[in-house]
Amino acid sequence: MAQLNSKIHEVIVTTLSQTGEPHSAPMGITEVNGHFLIQPFKPSATYENLKHHRQCTINYTDDVRVFAGSLTGRRDWPTLPCQKIEGQYLEQALSHTELEVIDFVDGDPRTSFTGKIVHEQTHAPFRGFNRAQSAVIEAAVLTSRLSMLPAEKVQQEIAYLTIAIEKTAGERELEAWSWLMTKIKDAGIELQNV
Ligand SMILES: Cc1cc2nc3c(=O)[nH]c(=O)nc-3n(C[C@H](O)[C@H](O)[C@H](O)COP(=O)(O)O)c2cc1C
Repeated sequence: MAQLNSKIHEVIVTTLSQTGEPHSAPMGITEVNGHFLIQPFKPSATYENLKHHRQCTINYTDDVRVFAGSLTGRRDWPTLPCQKIEGQYLEQALSHTELEVIDFVDGDPRTSFTGKIVHEQTHAPFRGFNRAQSAVIEAAVLTSRLSMLPAEKVQQEIAYLTIAIEKTAGERELEAWSWLMTKIKDAGIELQNV
């Protein structure tokens, strides 16, 4: 029950593949009693990787290109080795948490992995909220659900989110936004003034 009322934090989870390659994917994680719940859908690389190698990294980044990139085939972000686990963290993370999976419930369509904090490190200060970053995250969530959403819903939401992009985006946000808009248009959804 605690889980239902807990905040969801949008982060980048980096896992290791069976061949040791880092794989980064946006995930909404929940903090419960000092542990983190990671809930990847099946099938997904994050699910397969976590079942195989029970350690991962939570990256906190304001570079929203990583979120948009994961959904548009741009996953090649530079990483650095972790301190206390076998794993990697994103070079542009403001901070990261190293986790050890201590339990999992193999559900359908999602599996819930419980991670214990092994190590945390801060690399750069958080400089505050930016509306265009939030707009990119929202558009990334929409983009990850294109097959489930009616075109009109996507068009309405993008029209609204475009306001924040036009008013507050910097270069990174504009680049991330353009990748997502191309993907939405390639899915056959027409967008006005984008
Ligand atoms: C902000 C955000 C949060 C997401 N949260 C989740 C999540 O909690 N679980 C999940 O399976 N996918 C989530 N997704 C979608 C995945 O990131 C996307 O499907 C990704 O490709 C995962 O598959 P992979 O592990 O095979 O890379 C999220 C996407 C975004 C943009």
